Amino acid sequence: MVTARITVNGKEAPIAPAAPHTTVLDFLRERGLTGTKEGCAEGECGACSVLVARPGVNKPTDWVPVNACLVPVAALDGQEVVTSEGLATVEAPGTPPVLHPVQEEMAVRGGSQCGYCTPGFVCSMAAEYYRPDRCAHADRGPDATAGAAGAGAAGADGGDGGDGGDAEHGPNGFDLHALSGNLCRCTGYRPIRDAAFAVGTPTDEDPLARRREQDPPAPVATEYRQDDSAFLRRGTLAETLRLLRERPDAVVVAGSTDWGVEVNIRSRRADCVIAVDRLPELRGLRVESDHVEIGAALTLTEIERRLDGSVPLLAQLFPQFASRLIRNGATLGGNLGTGSPIGDSPPVLLALEASLVLADADGEREVPLADYFTGYRQSVRRPGELIRAVRLPLPLSPVTAFHKIAKRRFDDISSVAVAFALDVEGGTVRKARIGLGGVAATPVRALATEAALEGRPWTTGTAEAAAEVLRGEGTPMSDHRASAGYRAAMLGQSLLKLYAQTTEAVPS
Ligand code: FES
Ligand code: FES
Repeated sequence: MVTARITVNGKEAPIAPAAPHTTVLDFLRERGLTGTKEGCAEGECGACSVLVARPGVNKPTDWVPVNACLVPVAALDGQEVVTSEGLATVEAPGTPPVLHPVQEEMAVRGGSQCGYCTPGFVCSMAAEYYRPDRCAHADRGPDATAGAAGAGAAGADGGDGGDGGDAEHGPNGFDLHALSGNLCRCTGYRPIRDAAFAVGTPTDEDPLARRREQDPPAPVATEYRQDDSAFLRRGTLAETLRLLRERPDAVVVAGSTDWGVEVNIRSRRADCVIAVDRLPELRGLRVESDHVEIGAALTLTEIERRLDGSVPLLAQLFPQFASRLIRNGATLGGNLGTGSPIGDSPPVLLALEASLVLADADGEREVPLADYFTGYRQSVRRPGELIRAVRLPLPLSPVTAFHKIAKRRFDDISSVAVAFALDVEGGTVRKARIGLGGVAATPVRALATEAALEGRPWTTGTAEAAAEVLRGEGTPMSDHRASAGYRAAMLGQSLLKLYAQTTEAVPS
């Protein structure tokens, strides 16, 4: 058996003696790389952010930041990681390290006070610094710092972020959503934004920029065992399905954004964890004449960048789904596989009339998502079966909206989520599909509301009548996020909001 190994800041190291459930965060800190911090251990604060070399969208390799607190280190067997310590460079032995440009900007613009969040911020910021399409659209270089500092000050007043940018994008092309998974408790975000909007573009000599031009490390088959537990990765879907048939009790992980929380917060352990995130059969994205097929193990960031807005309802979903750090690991397969009634993707996929391709060692079957959930965190997926892909039928309905009602705009769990997909022709609703989350034990279609809309004129009267029906859909509960009454009220408001948003664009 080949020993599991990981490359950290350019140096290869064995993963042993870490346990199969040991996180990347604990592994790094155990090795003295204590820049990577633990804040929450559940993917919400970003203090643990590190960069991983992953297949790129526009270049062979992208530097992708992930939450090190959620990912088992065994999942990075054969992979390359860069921590905040690895961003600075030492030009000669005995000399102090030279700060990376993002570290430099954070320092000179006062982006760090206690410093606890800072290594995580600089890793997320570095990933955005190296994002190839940011570099291509950046209209200012490193010497544009005076303008960028002004951008931050303007932004603090609610301004537009300066020349060439907007409130969420810097004049250097920096997308502030890159930092949506990083929380700072003491500095305040304006100096951090100033730093983000001041970074230039990497030089030709920058080693991490050059690294993007080569392929990322290939996934390696992993058989990492200790005592009675194992972390396993196979090279093909067929091998994985055979393994799952032998071990139907195994926990299947992709980005580990859900399982990592179970391990850290609920101290859950599994005898066998099987990784599927690098299986090529689960990572395709194809647009056919009558459907789009999205591999279940593509990360949400990969889907977002590869679809590039061509499925507008998904494009509305992604910025509201957790944070960039989570989207860099989370997959549609995982979000559907866990069966959570408050997952963000099911309402959208229900409105899009998605179906799931389920695979086991005997073959595949296709199941409409509307028939997939059978109860709280239960589905028709059998032991030994995997979600291989999600299919969206074409053509897409043109009037769409995703309304997520939560306490925070980003990086939060929904109280209620509503997705709409309507065909409105000649002022009449020809077809309505509405997916709901957070109002029942499973994600559900709002069938009565759909019936109340279809065949009716898209008018204020229809919208108000349908909103009343929508308030009665599902069986919402009261809990610490929202009361049942609030949830029902938000359903109705959501339809009225859709009507208000669309009536100018849709002929009535
Ligand atoms: Fe908070 Fe990892 S420690 S996201
Ligand atoms: Fe203290 Fe961000 S600098 S938490």
